[in-house]
Amino acid sequence: MDLGLKGKNALVTGSSQGIGNAIANSLADEGCNVALSARNEARLTQAVSEIEAKGVKAAGIICDLSTEAGCKQFVEDGAKALGGIDILVNNVGGMIPGTLDSLDEDTWATVLNLNLMSFVYTTKHAVRYLQKSSAGRILCVSGVTGKQLLPGALTTTIPNTAIHGFAKIMAEQLGKDNITVNTICPGFTNTESWGPRAEGMAKVRGVSADQVRDGISGMTMLGRWAEPKEIGDAAAWIVSEKNSYQTGTVVEVCGGFTRYI
Ligand SMILES: NC(=O)c1ccc[n+]([C@@H]2O[C@H](COP(=O)([O-])OP(=O)(O)OC[C@H]3O[C@@H](n4cnc5c(N)ncnc54)[C@H](OP(=O)(O)O)[C@@H]3O)[C@@H](O)[C@H]2O)c1
Repeated sequence: MDLGLKGKNALVTGSSQGIGNAIANSLADEGCNVALSARNEARLTQAVSEIEAKGVKAAGIICDLSTEAGCKQFVEDGAKALGGIDILVNNVGGMIPGTLDSLDEDTWATVLNLNLMSFVYTTKHAVRYLQKSSAGRILCVSGVTGKQLLPGALTTTIPNTAIHGFAKIMAEQLGKDNITVNTICPGFTNTESWGPRAEGMAKVRGVSADQVRDGISGMTMLGRWAEPKEIGDAAAWIVSEKNSYQTGTVVEVCGGFTRYI
């Protein structure tokens, strides 16, 4: 099926590796031009070359998305480099572990600025470009902790549930402009950042990293982790022109992790 993504322009936040990078690649595979963002220049340059090799336009923008200025810079430079914006993917995020007792004011600010406020600010600055598109799309990336309680997930549950609320409000406000706003909710995904994270969890629990990983596999109906491309391909469908009547939804791509009906 032709998804109607050829020649569209997409901005993906936090996309030099992991899920954001997989989404950028799935979009490029469909002929979509992509602007990528990250702080580390070397990894970003490599990611841009890989996308360019697919025969589409790619731009790499170094910025810190934990500030409004960084989000604005990404949107303005990305729109300029590609010649407009049809699709915005709010993906950037990072897991900072902690509890109510252990987390101080500065750490909470870091958690919320990156995992929630970046979505708000990037959307704020992208709307005027998306309004010029014939089929504007916003996709937010949350996570299963926004749908189901998990032990030790205080710092991801709060931004993820707020993302679901934010996306729903934006879907209502931007429907008149024919802009759809949805959220994709990945399950445990085999990204680079999980290497050190699984090691850290293993140390705390007194088990091996493989045991941590196997335990997580066992919580899914499919009995395994997601590969980033599986999230990327689902995301490409959600933001495609073919998918024209879906808005305000949370799409779980989690291998059957959630168990409510
Ligand atoms: N992996 C999972 O199992 C999983 C599951 C559910 C949901 N999610 C969600 O999916 C999203 C991506 O997760 P991931 O595991 O793919 O992350 P990741 O592998 O850590 O990649 C994060 C990307 O964002 C960039 N980035 C981080 N901080 C940034 C900042 N301040 N400014 C600009 N760019 C920044 C990183 O590049 P630089 O470091 O160079 O800046 C990198 O390209 C997150 O929102 C996460 O909550 C992940």
